[in-house]
Amino acid sequence: MTRGRIELGDITQHNIKQLKRLNQVVFPVTYNDKFYKDVLEVGELAKLVYYNDIVVGAVCCRIDNNDNQRRLYIMTLGCLASYRRLHIGTVMVEHVLDICAKDGNYDNVFLHVQVNNEGAIKFYEKFGFEIVEEKQNYYKRIEPADAYVLQKSFRNKPNTATTNSVTSDSPPAQDKKS
Ligand SMILES: CC(C)(COP(=O)(O)OP(=O)(O)OC[C@H]1O[C@@H](n2cnc3c(N)ncnc32)[C@H](O)[C@@H]1OP(=O)(O)O)[C@@H](O)C(=O)NCCC(=O)NCCS
Repeated sequence: MTRGRIELGDITQHNIKQLKRLNQVVFPVTYNDKFYKDVLEVGELAKLVYYNDIVVGAVCCRIDNNDNQRRLYIMTLGCLASYRRLHIGTVMVEHVLDICAKDGNYDNVFLHVQVNNEGAIKFYEKFGFEIVEEKQNYYKRIEPADAYVLQKSFRNKPNTATTNSVTSDSPPAQDKKS
């Protein structure tokens, strides 16, 4: 497939069903109503991705304030299988890293992946993410149930100003063991 036009778009109440459908197809875990309610409130932290005007991917993040750290958590970042290796994932991760850089006050950005998801691990490693932890039985109804935590740290924070006000201490709204 030749490369086409890749664009990011806002998630609104009018297209949130497209996000739900996409996540159902791309991810083995089910996301609950709270996940979708919250996504509508996070602004730039959640985006649909269009490839030649067709929805093919989406990224959803939230701010995580735990353990005296301010972190960005990538809840979902995925692309339809038939549109992979076209740099659609790259556009999404660059969007996330751009948010972190502009904000300048995140300690790190992190996510969970199933331990057998070699493609996603290679993908994130390309952007400087590292495996920092393995969580046994993280997922409830999928095999393997273990997850890696992939993280990219921002050691040289450009400034210390607090610019974002959205916070959440709740665990990820995904189908995992609590
Ligand atoms: C991970 C994922 C988002 C990557 O999206 P993508 O659009 O295919 O990625 P890109 O085309 O931007 O890939 C950029 C680079 O990452 C690396 N990469 C991506 N997928 C890879 C794979 N399956 N195996 C090895 N390297 C891979 C390559 O270096 C690639 O560059 P190249 O194609 O020029 O060689 C996609 O495979 C996906 O949606 N997977 C299912 C959902 C998921 O597991 N998400 C991660 C947990 S949130």
